[in-house]
Amino acid sequence: QFELSLRPQKLTQYIGQHKVKESLNIFIEAAKLRKESLDHVLLYGPPGLGKTTLATIISNEMDVNIRLTSGPAIERPGDLAAIVSSLEPGDVLFIDEIHRLPRAIEEVLYPAMEDFCLDIVVGKGPEARSIRLDLPPFTLVGATTRAGALSAPLRDRFGVLLRLDFYDEASLEEIVLRSSQLFDIEIDRLAAREIACRSRGTPRIANRLLKRVRDYAQVIGDGSISHTLANQALELLQVDPRGLDHVDHKLLVSMIERFRGGPVGLDTIAASIGEERLTIEDVYEPYLMQMGFIQRTPRGRIATKLAYDHFGYTYPEQT
Ligand code: ADE
Repeated sequence: QFELSLRPQKLTQYIGQHKVKESLNIFIEAAKLRKESLDHVLLYGPPGLGKTTLATIISNEMDVNIRLTSGPAIERPGDLAAIVSSLEPGDVLFIDEIHRLPRAIEEVLYPAMEDFCLDIVVGKGPEARSIRLDLPPFTLVGATTRAGALSAPLRDRFGVLLRLDFYDEASLEEIVLRSSQLFDIEIDRLAAREIACRSRGTPRIANRLLKRVRDYAQVIGDGSISHTLANQALELLQVDPRGLDHVDHKLLVSMIERFRGGPVGLDTIAASIGEERLTIEDVYEPYLMQMGFIQRTPRGRIATKLAYDHFGYTYPEQT
C-alpha cells in the first residue's frame, strides 16, 4: 500500500509525458461532459514509465472503479466473462501485457469492446450452445511494451492510442524530489539530479535507486542524501553515470569484444550473455537505442562509436 501511495492519483500530480497528459485530459473532460464512458485506451511504451499509474488516474478522474488484470492471467473465456460481468457502468478494466492475451480470448474481447456484449459457448459437443451476455459500458485500458505485437483487429478497437516515451532528466528530477518528500527523505537538488540522470529515463528505476540510496544514507551517513553520498551509493549499486547497469555493460562489451561491434543477431547476443531475448528486446534495447549506443540494421544489431567511446574502446574506422 505504501508503494501505491507513491503513485500520483490525479492527472495534475503526474509529472512528465506532457503530450499524453494533454490528450488524456481532453478526452476525459469530453467524456464527462457527455456523461459517457471513456473510449478504450491503449498505452504502449517501455516498462516502468507509468502505464498502470495512468490507468489508475483515468479511473480516479472518471470517478469510477478500476479492475486490474493482465493478459497471461486470463486463460479461458470464462475468466474474462467473470471479470467483465462484474463491472459497473463506466468502470475501467486494465489489462497489463495485453499482447500476451491468448488468441481465443481476444476474439471474445472484440464484441465486448465494440458492442458491450459477450458470446460465450457453454457445454460440450452436441450440448454446446452460445449464450449472449449484455455488459455495462466500460473502458478497457490496455498496456503493452510492444504495440507491434498486438494483432491489428485488437489494436483497431482502441479509440485512444497513447505512446509513453522515456522521461527527460528534469521530469525525473522532479519525480525524485516528489518521492523524497513522500518518504520524508532529506535530499540535495544535485543528488536528486544525479539519481535522475542514472535512471534510464524511467520513474520506476528512479524510485528504486532513491530507496537504495536512502538505505546507504541511513547506514553509512546521517540519513540525508548529499550529492557526494548519492555518487558513492550509485557506484556501489553498479549504475554508471549514463544509467547503464551491469547487464547493459555485459551486452555492449560482448558486442564489441566478441562480435567486433556487429552486426549480430539478437538471439546470438542473448545466448552469449545468458539473458532472455525478450528481456533484451523489451527492457534493455529500447534505452540503449534511445541513447544511441546500439542501432538496428537488417542484418542485426551494431554497437555505435558512442558505445566504443563510453567503454574506452577504439572505434574501428570503416574503410
Ligand atoms: N512517480 C512515478 N512516476 C511518476 C510520475 N510520472 N509523476 C509523478 N510521480 C511519479
